[in-house]
Amino acid sequence: MSEFIKVASTDEVGPGGCKTIEVSGSRIALFNVAGKFFAMDDACAHRGGPLGEGTLDGAIVTCPWHGWQYDVSSGACQTNPHVQTVCYEVRVEDKLVKVALK
Ligand code: FES
Repeated sequence: MSEFIKVASTDEVGPGGCKTIEVSGSRIALFNVAGKFFAMDDACAHRGGPLGEGTLDGAIVTCPWHGWQYDVSSGACQTNPHVQTVCYEVRVEDKLVKVALK
């Protein structure tokens, strides 16, 4: 069974927001899509840009370095269909966002 680790409070990442978080030695990108939270690897598959510092439009984040785009709900890269980024299960409990690291 996966262990869920607290990564943020819900207030830290408002709707349409994103953030890079370091947890247990890993960099996770956390996204709030209209009140629903998603998490995936922070490192862009292109050259490692910080996706948590990107721009979120609906469920699509744009990497701040060279503009690759990903669907944060699935990890599917919209720019390169051969790329699939790792997503993490997210839970919200008592205004705390928790992520299950694999
Ligand atoms: S590092 Fe993300 S688009 Fe280049």
